[in-house]
Amino acid sequence: MIEKLNNLKTEVSAGIDSVKDLKSLEEFRIKYLSRNGILHSLFEEFKSVDKESKGKTGKALNEFKNFLQEIFDKKKEDLNSGMSVNESKTDYSLPGRTGNKGTKHLIAQAIEEINGIFENIGFKVYYGNEIEDEYHNFDALNTPAYHPSRDMQDTFYVDGKGKDRVYLLRTHTSPGQIRVMENTKPPVRVIVPGKCYRNEAISSRSLAFFHQIEGLYVDKKVTFRALKGTLNYFAKEYFGKSLKTRLRPSYFPFTEPSAEMDVECYLCKSKGCNVCKYTGWLEIAGCGMVDPNVFKMVGYDPEVYSGFAFGMGIERTLMVKHGIPDIRIFYENDIRFLKQF
Ligand code: PHE
Repeated sequence: MIEKLNNLKTEVSAGIDSVKDLKSLEEFRIKYLSRNGILHSLFEEFKSVDKESKGKTGKALNEFKNFLQEIFDKKKEDLNSGMSVNESKTDYSLPGRTGNKGTKHLIAQAIEEINGIFENIGFKVYYGNEIEDEYHNFDALNTPAYHPSRDMQDTFYVDGKGKDRVYLLRTHTSPGQIRVMENTKPPVRVIVPGKCYRNEAISSRSLAFFHQIEGLYVDKKVTFRALKGTLNYFAKEYFGKSLKTRLRPSYFPFTEPSAEMDVECYLCKSKGCNVCKYTGWLEIAGCGMVDPNVFKMVGYDPEVYSGFAFGMGIERTLMVKHGIPDIRIFYENDIRFLKQF
């Protein structure tokens, strides 16, 4: 019987090689492993083996059984994993899953749009530094050391005070004005968009981090009237033709005279509501004529040149444009909000 088993082993090995699909595998199973198959009849035959050879033969028979089962299982696995298209359970006609495409954040979109509006009237875009030194953020902007905005409670200092140069996170985009004027001769027409940081209590109207767009125009005989015209042009382009604007006197150390620009409240059309705090107006930009002291700091002759500057809060303009009541929502990354833009 042992010899018979050895011969069968060779036969089985050759047989399994010719199994190429599940149908012939089933034929293989019936031939060898089923109740009427060869293995079963071998066990029947084993019953009549003489006592002396039972041990050896039994062992060989069990080995053959395991061998048979193993090659059968292996073939089955191979066939299942390499299934051809027709037998596969995968439906290849289903539409593919596409990944979610990212889009630009509405702040990035707004910066692009505002850049475009000013580029159309000859402004160039300059990107300043987010980490600035105290000189560019304050001194050169005619903001002396005793000015309250220089206090640690209002400004994030990067390395602490007491070194030759004190670094900070810029509190506005105005240092961009200085950097441009230091490196260019007038006429200058630039805008500087970017992130700003202030050590502020967080509320629905202010965050410790926000965006501004700075504007600067310097030439001979630049007038306040040109400033007003430019800001009105912007408001019409950006908010649509119908919103009214107004300029209110204000104060900034680096402009003289200074003003603030308000636009009509989008929600109540100036009637007064809680978004505009019942004033009917929303403030969107600080502005004014460049202070002669600033020109002196950058080496421009204030007797020859004049200029205007403005700084607009981007989140503010978006809140006005889209009726967004809380500034914090810009940075919560709520897809339901972001998807709308
Ligand atoms: N830098 C000022 C601010 O952050 C805005 C401003 C810019 C005012 C330019 C006048 C001129 O509030």
